[in-house]
Amino acid sequence: MGLLDGRKGLVFGIANDRSIAYHIALSLMEAGAECGFPHLPGEKSERRARKALENGGIANPWMMSCDVSSDEDIDRVFDETKEKFGTIDFIIHSIAYADRTYLKPGSFVDTPRDAFSQALDISAYSLVAVTRRAKEIMPEGGSVIGMSYYGAEKAIPGYNVMGVAKAALEACTRYLAMEMGEFNIRVNTISAGPIRTLSAMAVGGIDEVFDWVQRKSPLRRNIDASEVGRTAVYLVSDLSSAVTGENMYVDAGYSIIGL
Ligand SMILES: NC(=O)c1ccc[n+]([C@@H]2O[C@H](COP(=O)([O-])OP(=O)(O)OC[C@H]3O[C@@H](n4cnc5c(N)ncnc54)[C@H](O)[C@@H]3O)[C@@H](O)[C@H]2O)c1
Repeated sequence: MGLLDGRKGLVFGIANDRSIAYHIALSLMEAGAECGFPHLPGEKSERRARKALENGGIANPWMMSCDVSSDEDIDRVFDETKEKFGTIDFIIHSIAYADRTYLKPGSFVDTPRDAFSQALDISAYSLVAVTRRAKEIMPEGGSVIGMSYYGAEKAIPGYNVMGVAKAALEACTRYLAMEMGEFNIRVNTISAGPIRTLSAMAVGGIDEVFDWVQRKSPLRRNIDASEVGRTAVYLVSDLSSAVTGENMYVDAGYSIIGL
């Protein structure tokens, strides 16, 4: 018996086999869950995400095109999900975007209004938009998980507007948890340590962050995306049935260190 046998849900945010969402999907499916995969629109995005999943041993993954800045796209994905799954038990939101021009140390003050709004819309508001639709097909309750980073709490050179978006994402998580609780829907974020993905590589000076975490974190190492995957299994499963509104660190302990 798998911990997640019979559970169904959507995993947003697989770009390739480095994506955190990909590693979460592998862990969830290994535990028995059934998943659908909304991906960024475009033939290339679809092909890369599908190839990653197939190479990971997932035959015929169910792919759906979805730009989370479009309400029409999100509506369509949830209509299709209702048709295919009926009801669902979890949502993994592993999505972020900011114009990399403003992800350089020293450039936060230059962030223009449109780049700021776009980062907040795609990286934070979309969690609200997705949770609202998910609630309609989660009659027994469920688990919604977003992905955050320590730059939400502390100023990290280069993380810039993405740090502001992550602060908003964590606040959205608390407000959603407060309102969704009566429907037995739990909403949490995982604050992962740095991992070498496409998004991470867009952050200026990221190599220094990896070196620093390796030297300073209590476990004296960086994390592996599969460790985030296993934490997601816990947060989707009944093992975490009383955990909601939390931000759970999977960061080799880095966030507890003062100096
Ligand atoms: N890699 C890290 O170091 C790290 C650490 C902590 C948190 N995170 C967070 O984890 C999540 C996943 O990032 P990742 O590191 O796996 O990188 P990634 O680039 O593999 O994943 C980001 C995903 O967001 C998707 N996306 C961007 N804009 C979108 C839009 N408008 N509509 C739909 N999808 C869109 C991309 O297609 C991609 O699949 C992000 O929220 C990121 O901020 C990453």
